[in-house]
Amino acid sequence: MIPATNQRPAATVLFIFGGSGDLNLRKLTPALYNLFIDKYLPEHFSVVGIGRSKYTDESFRERLLEGVNEFSRRKDGPWNEFAPSISYLQMDGGDAAAYSAISDFVEAKKQEWGESPNVLFYLAVAPQLVPGIATNLAKLELCGDKSHVRIVVEKPFGHDLKTAQELNTLLGGLFAEEQIYRIDHYLGKETVQNILALRFANSLFEPIWNRRYVEHIQITAAETVGLEGRGGYYEGSGALRDMIQNHLLQVLCMVATEAPISFDANEVRNKKVDVLNAIRRIQPDQVKDVAVRGQYGPGKVKDKEMPGYREEEGVDPNSATETFAAIKLFVDNWRWEDVPFYLRTGKSMPEKTTVITVQFKPAPSYAFPGEATGSWEANRLVISIQPAMDIRLRFQAKRPGQTLAIDPVEMVFSYKTAYDGQEPEAYETLLLDALTGDATLFMRADQVEAAWKVVTPIIEAWGHEAPTDFPNYTPGSWGPQAAMDLIEKDGFKWMTK
Ligand code: BG6
Repeated sequence: MIPATNQRPAATVLFIFGGSGDLNLRKLTPALYNLFIDKYLPEHFSVVGIGRSKYTDESFRERLLEGVNEFSRRKDGPWNEFAPSISYLQMDGGDAAAYSAISDFVEAKKQEWGESPNVLFYLAVAPQLVPGIATNLAKLELCGDKSHVRIVVEKPFGHDLKTAQELNTLLGGLFAEEQIYRIDHYLGKETVQNILALRFANSLFEPIWNRRYVEHIQITAAETVGLEGRGGYYEGSGALRDMIQNHLLQVLCMVATEAPISFDANEVRNKKVDVLNAIRRIQPDQVKDVAVRGQYGPGKVKDKEMPGYREEEGVDPNSATETFAAIKLFVDNWRWEDVPFYLRTGKSMPEKTTVITVQFKPAPSYAFPGEATGSWEANRLVISIQPAMDIRLRFQAKRPGQTLAIDPVEMVFSYKTAYDGQEPEAYETLLLDALTGDATLFMRADQVEAAWKVVTPIIEAWGHEAPTDFPNYTPGSWGPQAAMDLIEKDGFKWMTK
């Protein structure tokens, strides 16, 4: 989380493996540039892109500037002041002998700056390259310095529980846990961080944030986009692994966690692991009742023709990969016993929206005459994570007039009207945290494994039985009919507002 003191991190050299890749272009460099503009970067700061492509420092900077011009929230600015801190190291991450260039670079900066810098390694590479790079890095003498060297690992963290455990064992043998920063970019979103503020900086919500008052909770993360050329990765992943195992379960943890006694990284993460461990294990024969998968066929989203998933590049024409998933979970603890949590995510949906709905139980209406209660509704708190960033409290009010009529109305807190609309991007927050050594918003080894345990029965059941109805939803719809049935059989409806 952004430090309240506005303190800058110590001198740092940041190495980005996958430096010439998409993530650096779209997210990392724009984030660093904005941190630079906001004066969060240390005076002594150097970022080195590492990759196999051929660039000079100059041509690499030009390439990154293109990314900034396209993807940064601020485009105009002192790029020429920031650019000299960027350099490029052409290197094959699989070549152990080449790693001495990293130590040499750090040593040169130490001489130049007159102080020993912190070193951050960011692995923005395909998951299969992570073990090799981490192993080679760990051989460098400088990596033994637990308090000054950190490694950031991007998702996907493992392909299932077993591979996540193997990766944790490998990384844990090479680095101390406090050096490992497993990133989940949803946790860096302002509106996701604000869930803890909403719940624990107010006395209004917490007393009713439990099974006594809450009827059910929904978390939807819908995207209008399809594959965006990521067929190679997505085919082996699918919506459950790509979105639910990580982002949506982390959001659920924020909604369901007990109050931490401090914002110490381990205290907050302990509380989240408690939530994941309390999620009721799904038995193999229950999967069909609590989990729905979907895959989009050809059609239109917002008047734009979309190919069906199976026609996308890099996708098997008989693919069983799900582009939509909806699941129902229970958190078996004192606070949440028997309150259903419905999670859904999908590509090629009618709108891009990530939203949490806390549906409260209805108030008794018997005191009011029947004709006044035609629109009777239970209270609802709707937290829009993106793109709308707002919180809406729906409650009932008397419609003005001489006849008694009760209607739902809304009280809205919107970031746009309350603030100046320049919220930092998730990657700005997370990079700054990694630079300052604050791991609160990063995933600990046990957190990742606990999240895999939640989805493992579904992965296994779906793996054993190929879907027979794919494709089963059209682009621009809210997914297959079975997803509506999943929630409607409990007497509820999916909501995004
Ligand atoms: C990524 C997934 O982690 O999150 C993508 O791999 C998805 O498939 C993306 O599109 C969504 O992120 P956001 O921030 O746009 O909601």
